[in-house]
Amino acid sequence: MAEEAILGFLNNNEEITDSGQFSSELNLDHNEVVNVIKSLHGFRYIDVQDIKRETWVLTDEGKKYAAEGSPEVQLFLAVPEEGSISKDELQKKLAPSVFKIGCSQAGKNKWVEMGKQVSRKVQHVEDKVKGTLLQIQEGKEIDKDGITSLKARKLIAPQVWKGYSVKKGPNYAPERKKVATDLTRENLQNWEELEFKEYNFNAKGAPVDAGHLHPLLKVRKQFKDIFVQMGFEEMPTNNFVESSFWNFDALFQPQQHPARDSHDTFFLKAPSTTRTLPEDYVERVKQVHESGGYGSRGYNYDWKREEANKNLLRTHTTAVSSRMLYALAQQPFMPKKYFSIDRVFRNEAVDRTHLAEFHQIEGLICDRGLTLGDLIGVLEDFFSRLGMSKLKFKPAYNPYTEPSMEIFSYHEGLGKWVEIGNSGMFRPEMLLPMGLPEDVRVIAWGLSLERPTMILYGIDNIRDLFGHKVDLDLIKRNPICRIGI
Ligand code: PHE
Repeated sequence: MAEEAILGFLNNNEEITDSGQFSSELNLDHNEVVNVIKSLHGFRYIDVQDIKRETWVLTDEGKKYAAEGSPEVQLFLAVPEEGSISKDELQKKLAPSVFKIGCSQAGKNKWVEMGKQVSRKVQHVEDKVKGTLLQIQEGKEIDKDGITSLKARKLIAPQVWKGYSVKKGPNYAPERKKVATDLTRENLQNWEELEFKEYNFNAKGAPVDAGHLHPLLKVRKQFKDIFVQMGFEEMPTNNFVESSFWNFDALFQPQQHPARDSHDTFFLKAPSTTRTLPEDYVERVKQVHESGGYGSRGYNYDWKREEANKNLLRTHTTAVSSRMLYALAQQPFMPKKYFSIDRVFRNEAVDRTHLAEFHQIEGLICDRGLTLGDLIGVLEDFFSRLGMSKLKFKPAYNPYTEPSMEIFSYHEGLGKWVEIGNSGMFRPEMLLPMGLPEDVRVIAWGLSLERPTMILYGIDNIRDLFGHKVDLDLIKRNPICRIGI
């Protein structure tokens, strides 16, 4: 309707000077006209210019008087034509605000004589206030004086009215042509007859619902950044399958050790064994397990090569550390700081906090003359960057470290000490067979990625964090990771 009216009018006339006037002449809703104008303008059927006018609207009080009459007239009418009425009597007849305002306005207008008794001074009054309010309500123009007094009495308030003047635009036509908006097969077949809508390269695209990072990845990034800031290099952890040799034997973990049992370790059926190991090093590892050396008595048992050959899913990323340290020992010595964050596997009973796989974060420093004091200092630096500056260390046991320490941090939220990791100095029985110089010490620590992630994201069941039961919505909605703030 509005569209036909606008395009039709412009066909015979130069201009629509005022969309507001145009609307009321044709009895159209101005809002609708404005919408059509915007749309036609978008397709350049028309050119438009904004019109802004300050108009007035009635306040709630103004609306009331427009309907019921001004207080002064209400008061005047409540005074008898002849004789008088007592002020108290008059007050009872009117609403309190009407009485109060009515008295002052009717007095000012000299319509009534105010005393203990109230009487009329004129025979007839005209309700100009109501009249003007009604005119404003109908959108009529009002002279300045009328506006000033109503504004002072807060019966009207200013409002900016927005409209347009409209002329033909470059694409003007008396009727809007339907433009093709899609490059469909059909549209492409008769493209010559069609008019295509222009691309709007400024339009915002639909948000792409993809590419959300899992909380574990977000926390991993934070840990990575901390290691990198501390000058650590990342170790290559891209092999889940490892030989028992690198996972256990190289770490001076005896072959009867319970952790090597199939209850804790997943062994591979195929390929069940490793193909190559560095033979001379294997020989030195065998020696140190069986009879010691380097100041050690060893474990005094028959070390079996078949046991070392068995393939498994690595049970810790320390397997990668042993490979890296061995590789380091094959060159002239250079101090190193290494880290890794990757997946490990343990054949454990699955419960709220344990799965058969998790991610391990591991850091190590290899240099001459390092001490336990260095380890404690590095741990304090590392964990304070995570916002954990209250640490405690407890003696512990690992086959490959001596001394070993469990790391505890005071958790303000939980109000108690929680275990956050494990650490130690790699044993000479591990480092010397590799060929590292005698005065080289390696300090190392490890922790899980899942535990801090669950704490940071308030997740208490690991199955909500990892695995097929994870709610994808949680992945989409979870916030960025803010560690140590
Ligand atoms: N490998 C240990 C674990 O699985 C962690 C650790 C790494 C401990 C380095 C000491 C030194 O818990």
